[in-house]
Amino acid sequence: MVSSRIPSFHKMTVEERIAAVREFAGLSDEEVRLLKQSCKLGMEKANIMIENVIGTFELPFGIATNFLINGKDYLIPMAIEEPSVVAAASFAAKLARAGGGFKARADEPVMIAQIQIRRVKNIDKAMEKLIASKKDIIDMANEKAGLLLELGGGAKDFELRKINTPSGNMLIFNLLVDVRDAMGANTVNTMAEHISPLLEELTQADTLFKIVSNLAIYRKAYSKALWRKDVLEESCKADMSGDEIVENIIDGYYFAYYDQFRATTHNKGIMNGISALAIATGNDFRALEAGVHSYAAYKHEYRPVTKYYKNKKGDLVGEIEIPLAVGTVGGSIKTNPLAQIALKILKVKSAKELSMVMASLGLAQNFAALRAMATEGIQHGHMRLHARNIAIMAGAKGDEIEKVAAKLYEEKNFSAEHAKEILKDIRK
Ligand code: MEV
Repeated sequence: MVSSRIPSFHKMTVEERIAAVREFAGLSDEEVRLLKQSCKLGMEKANIMIENVIGTFELPFGIATNFLINGKDYLIPMAIEEPSVVAAASFAAKLARAGGGFKARADEPVMIAQIQIRRVKNIDKAMEKLIASKKDIIDMANEKAGLLLELGGGAKDFELRKINTPSGNMLIFNLLVDVRDAMGANTVNTMAEHISPLLEELTQADTLFKIVSNLAIYRKAYSKALWRKDVLEESCKADMSGDEIVENIIDGYYFAYYDQFRATTHNKGIMNGISALAIATGNDFRALEAGVHSYAAYKHEYRPVTKYYKNKKGDLVGEIEIPLAVGTVGGSIKTNPLAQIALKILKVKSAKELSMVMASLGLAQNFAALRAMATEGIQHGHMRLHARNIAIMAGAKGDEIEKVAAKLYEEKNFSAEHAKEILKDIRK
């Protein structure tokens, strides 16, 4: 089995990195060619994907290394504009290997489609009617299941809720659909619209909104990792003991648990990883963002979606639990050749597996941020990488970029003006 532990991956040239990923994932000549060309999507495909197209908009496409999840090695594709995110995830995954890597699992891919039923004369009676007709409703929904039924998916059940609003009581019908390897929004929206006339007949009421819920609480992914305190100590540039680092990370976590302002940023860091992987694989990252942030406040105040604690040996354990509605098949994933390459690099066999990798990446991303803030501070690594952006903005080209960046970092002055002065000196 090939390993995702590729030492000095970050020091390789782009060419060398592509060769390493090619070997890991068995990419074809054509796939390598697409990766090397800068515009892989092409105007024609972009024009099919959305409306009013005038071009394509690119993001850097990076690879997070070192991920060991349930004993399997993964290279994780990430599309993101922010420096240090990919490096941070790779570093966290490297440190987690000593603790056995990530242990992840996921629920079955069950999505919720909501139907709003209003102007119900007798809500309790309407609920009884719906429950008595469960089989008819599910069968009707499954008329729109297509291939899903053969694959073991389809509409399975529903839940009912009453809500009191200024316009009166409403009955909310949540249809539960196993969408297998799709993200599923289209399928469940179609089903919801299809069964609405039957719901109206049964309840003698009026249906209004019919739409997926992005709070996919039945489609959660979970991951857990252990970071050994001796490994944390060894890898820390600051003079700190492993116990101290573990304690600081846990205190930083408590800060987020008890303070919503901090919790928001804590969760944002998690989404750095999750959205980057979602974009790389052609998934709807806004749906994931909405779902995760909403889950952070599900049945309680807004909180971090990860948790940290010490085990008996004093090592750090991190856990994540989040709804992740992701697909490996479907429209935008199929159309985008880069998303296909990303999935090939990932070697995931199902949407469920993708969600497990995604949750592990989110946890790694979060751990990396907490570890940095618990030790040398976040700007240390971040500014080092950001210095390259500043150098480019100042006009540095080729070799000049690293030279200017190194000087900016060494002098701890990251202003654009200073970068221009350094560039002038270099060019003298
Ligand atoms: C920056 O993109 C993400 C962090 O702010 C996350 C965090 O504070 O936990 C570093």
